[in-house]
Amino acid sequence: MQKNLFRLVLAGALALVGCGGGGGDDPAVDAGADVYVPPAISKPFPADFLWGTATAAYQVETGLDGTDWHQWEQKGKVIDGDKSGAPDRADDGPAMETHYAADLDRARALGNNTYRFEMAMARLFPTRAALTSATPDPTALAYYRALLAACKSRGIVPMVTLHHFVWPTWIHDVDDVATKGGWASESTITDFTNFATWSAKTFGADVDLWVTINEPMVYVINGYLGGQFPPGNFLQVEKALTVAYNMIEGHARAYDAIHANDTMDADGDGKPALVSIANHNRVMQPKNPADAMDRRAAELLQKLSNRVFFDAATGGNIDKNFDGDYDDPGDKKADPRLMNRMDYLGVNYYGLAVVQYIGNENSFPVIGIPRFELLETPWDKTEFNWDIYPQGLREVLDEMKGYQLPIYITENGIADRDEEQRSRFLVEHLYELQRAMADGIDVRGYYHWSLVDNFEWSAGYCPRFGLYAVDFSKPDKPRSEGAAARLYQRIIAERTVSPDLFRTLPPYPLQLYEESCPVLSPL
Ligand code: BGC
Repeated sequence: MQKNLFRLVLAGALALVGCGGGGGDDPAVDAGADVYVPPAISKPFPADFLWGTATAAYQVETGLDGTDWHQWEQKGKVIDGDKSGAPDRADDGPAMETHYAADLDRARALGNNTYRFEMAMARLFPTRAALTSATPDPTALAYYRALLAACKSRGIVPMVTLHHFVWPTWIHDVDDVATKGGWASESTITDFTNFATWSAKTFGADVDLWVTINEPMVYVINGYLGGQFPPGNFLQVEKALTVAYNMIEGHARAYDAIHANDTMDADGDGKPALVSIANHNRVMQPKNPADAMDRRAAELLQKLSNRVFFDAATGGNIDKNFDGDYDDPGDKKADPRLMNRMDYLGVNYYGLAVVQYIGNENSFPVIGIPRFELLETPWDKTEFNWDIYPQGLREVLDEMKGYQLPIYITENGIADRDEEQRSRFLVEHLYELQRAMADGIDVRGYYHWSLVDNFEWSAGYCPRFGLYAVDFSKPDKPRSEGAAARLYQRIIAERTVSPDLFRTLPPYPLQLYEESCPVLSPL
């Protein structure tokens, strides 16, 4: 079969890379037909490595009705009419706010020592007046305090996200974007900074690891170029750039606010706060490698996706017309208001995207689009038809080396309803990670997306990313452990990805190629 043939070619390529790397000792073993067994890596994960999972408030909590995403659902923009955590529905979300203690017990049982979650601004501050007067909703405040205490009592280090795609409607109202435009409005920078200030003051004693914004470029692309997130704009390039630059500024101001107000060192390492964004880093490959425009589009999109925010927040550089220099109108070079606002790099990695040139001069710099429909590529596919490309994790880590900052893998995971792919995906990605670290890349933690099945934005509940499956049809949302959870536990305990694991895991089942959830572009 063509895909099996590709898998063998890939195996050969991986073997070459593996032997050249600093970590591999043993010769690669081919255990037969279709099974590739890579060399062992001599250097284990460090004893203080952070192992965890990640979630976002809207995807796991109920009752976030005062938000732009709730409006979006009401407009029927989510597949099958799925809704995040609507308490009146049988298929609502995992209701983490009532299950968090048991869920954290599960995480702890896996050996996790960290957990990344979002504090929902809409839950804490239902109005701007509440925020400016620093008067949070008491129930919401009690909930996040309890969540932090539950982390602490289990030895779980919290990593807190402040913005993960969702706004309260007083900031972003899908029916009134002219006055409440979210990141398109400059006033949002002030609101976000106020939220960061309050969060750092309130939770600084318990939190050292902060993520200001999750996947800013995914937000920009899905909201203003692809139309899948609120406000649903399509190819509004100018607006998308405004949103991106406001987010860059918003991050810098929030970074300053956190450092000014979180002065308490929660973990005793001498650093009260480490702040970053969680960026979506993807490998972009040209649809037709022989086509110069596809190649150019892929290159540009990879820069947009992987480096624009990091370039701005580390070096203070913005290349507004993407011509490679910083001397054009709107460009910024070493802007002191933006630079040195990154203490680590938060990297979310899911795979590769095949990019096609779209030849629309008006859409510059978006001259290409990632194609996530069924395409004949050499790679196995997830339920989303995303290409599974573990070696890309190494590629994006290499791409990040120049920033000379420690890295946390703030997300990595797979949509896999039948739990047929997650184990292999986890093993292959953690193997790449361990090898990269053995070769000297400074990675401090890994957060698997996700702990439990949850609401996957426009794709609703079709894709299942959880290490624990959730039965959404039952009122008490029972969880059941998947095979990958046990494997994660074993790797954490052994601090290494044993080559034996490759021997025991079945190959990716090809049938999922046809039975995918509706395609959702993450970019
Ligand atoms: C997002 C998550 C999302 C995950 C899987 C990331 O892009 O941060 O919210 O659920 O990918 O699609």
